[in-house]
Amino acid sequence: MIRDIQEEILKLKKEKDICILAHCYQNPEILEVADFTGDSFALSVKAAETKNKTVIMCGVKFMAESAKVLSPEKTVILPAPNAGCPMADMAEVEDVEEMIKKYPDAFKVCYINSSYEVKALCDASVTSSSALKIIKNIPNKQILFLPDQNLGGYISEFFPEKEFILWRGFCPTHHRITAEDIIKAKEEHPNVKVLSHPECSKEVRDLSDYIGSTSGIINYATECEDKEFIIATEEGVLHQLKKKNPDKKFYFPEVMVCPNMKKTSLQDVYDALDGKKEEVILDEEIRKKALTSLENMHKLGN
Ligand code: 13P
Ligand code: SF4
Repeated sequence: MIRDIQEEILKLKKEKDICILAHCYQNPEILEVADFTGDSFALSVKAAETKNKTVIMCGVKFMAESAKVLSPEKTVILPAPNAGCPMADMAEVEDVEEMIKKYPDAFKVCYINSSYEVKALCDASVTSSSALKIIKNIPNKQILFLPDQNLGGYISEFFPEKEFILWRGFCPTHHRITAEDIIKAKEEHPNVKVLSHPECSKEVRDLSDYIGSTSGIINYATECEDKEFIIATEEGVLHQLKKKNPDKKFYFPEVMVCPNMKKTSLQDVYDALDGKKEEVILDEEIRKKALTSLENMHKLGN
């Protein structure tokens, strides 16, 4: 059954010249039909580069919005339109505007996990894999960082000379994991390295051997000679980890599943290809402002 619908999807996307992009946290059956899978930064680059006129973004709302901001001439479809990001929803436009007023000299940085309206209010966007490089290139002493307090806190540790003002948002999936979970996993698997995402809390990061984005974690585990790893990020990474390292073992200290990332079904993707899903429509004025923020991310992050 899964195989049948996957074959239909592969046939249809070729016939219609449609590109399917999927974030690493998507269900394996979706990852298998995608033209490209990756972390948020890589997906945003692909969305801008691809020659196809239509892009189906298997992920959450801010990813589809970013693709449309970068490529307004393309038709961008989010196959599960109710797949949002609770962390992005923690920064609402009016509250962000209030905060910005309080810090007129600050450089305003938003994590890509934010709405395009919030991006439009910020000077540059960042992803977890590009944030350190981007902040290094910013001359301002004061940095207003939103919405993730964990990623912001992690970055701020590398720049003691700067003053970070952190929004109090967090990712419910990553923030839930505790130091106790990591300590227990280390006891169960002695001498096994802990690889964590910067969306995890400081107490978890402090117990980690490597901290990096989704693709950073996959690359680290692939290049490292160790045969076992404790992984503190969304379990979707297991698909790529296993594909690239069939002989290695990966342990998750807790159930780490983002319910929004799992909302996309194969039927949704099929329906999107079949013209049964609505395309992403953005306000043009706001889109242009958000574009500057995303272009600065690509400029400063490469
Ligand atoms: P990255 O894909 O940049 O690692 O971000 C993780 C995430 O939570 C995406 O929503
Ligand atoms: Fe948002 Fe966290 Fe889900 Fe990513 S994993 S989409 S940050 S809730």
